Amino acid sequence: MTGAPGESPALVDRLRAEILAAGGAIPFARYMDLALYEPGLGYYERAARVVGRGGDFATSVSVGPMFGELLARWILDGAVSRSTELSAGPVELVEAGAHDGRLAEDILDAIGRLGGADVARFSYRIVEPSPVRQAWQAARLARFGDRIRWSPSMPGRQPGGPGVRGVILSNELLDAFPVERWRWSADRRRWVEQGVTWRQDRFEWVCLPTAPPPGWALPQELEAVLPEGFVRERSPAAVDWWANAARGLEAGCLLAIDYGLDAEEFLVPHRAEGTLRAYRRHRVSGDLLDSPGEVDLTAHVDFTAIARAGEREGLTTWGCPSQSRFLLGVLESTQRVPGGFPEWTPARVRAFQTLTHPEHFGRSFRVLVQGRGPTPWDLR
Ligand SMILES: C[S@@+](CC[C@H](N)C(=O)[O-])C[C@H]1O[C@@H](n2cnc3c(N)ncnc32)[C@H](O)[C@@H]1O
Repeated sequence: MTGAPGESPALVDRLRAEILAAGGAIPFARYMDLALYEPGLGYYERAARVVGRGGDFATSVSVGPMFGELLARWILDGAVSRSTELSAGPVELVEAGAHDGRLAEDILDAIGRLGGADVARFSYRIVEPSPVRQAWQAARLARFGDRIRWSPSMPGRQPGGPGVRGVILSNELLDAFPVERWRWSADRRRWVEQGVTWRQDRFEWVCLPTAPPPGWALPQELEAVLPEGFVRERSPAAVDWWANAARGLEAGCLLAIDYGLDAEEFLVPHRAEGTLRAYRRHRVSGDLLDSPGEVDLTAHVDFTAIARAGEREGLTTWGCPSQSRFLLGVLESTQRVPGGFPEWTPARVRAFQTLTHPEHFGRSFRVLVQGRGPTPWDLR
């Protein structure tokens, strides 16, 4: 497959310059990083409206405020009030991948409505490396004043020093980190990293001589039957981000909602081309290298690798249920409290169905929660 340059000439020039400087090819992860995040040029730098009905893809956040409302419910009832560490004192909510700030707005509004006397305990921080996206968020969230703050990266923490006491959360962040792409060569019996070059006015795939990372080999009996060209992605950037967030957590939990799989679920015949996809106007583009800067690039999250990273940092996995199971559990808990859930209007019924239906966000999306200490809420 090859990729046409598309409609972002400045980004194409930037990618070509990087390829030239690197001697003719760059790893796909670097291509993806530039295509999505190059300041002023990358896909996520261009416009806030790439998410939602009029954009390139929908998320649970763009379905409407109900998603933030149910998350706020879980934060109040599950993560905070039942926790021995967080049941009193300040609670910080830290969101990454906030994009245009809509989820922050929905969560803060819901906490304002549902939190009672506890509201004053909550503050919100958005971790946002991009000044452009921070400006979109600040415009949307101005009415919350100093209850909301920003950091360019996860707040650092010295060993034994204070960290986040609260919930570090994200929706569709982990799938947006750059991934390495590795292709199985049955002849050579080895994994070959895929890079990107520029040839005849197009981006093209090339094989790189990189040695496969430690632990990347599969059991010998599996490699013996793996078909030529089987592709797997790997995202050290997502794993490092999670490990760093885990180190920053003093009390409470890390919660990530995303589409993804357990490690062994990647190794099935219908995923032989990997899970990396390019999206434009709600459709999958056939060519991953077509139109950099104009398409979203994303791959399924390896929940096994992410969960292991958190456990290495001393966190306990509280659960990784489907979004449907998670939200139904939250809904059930609201039914036990009189007035715990606003009335079902037709629009709210539709939103809940979209968030939980197996063919929408219900099954392929999962909610990974890891915390310091035992789970205060049954997430199995
Ligand atoms: C798929 S969008 C999801 C947006 C929003 N959370 C939603 O669900 O509608 C991914 C977002 O994560 C952001 N992102 C990627 N890497 C990030 C990082 N290291 N820190 C903070 N945000 C990041 C992207 O810029 C983009 O806005």
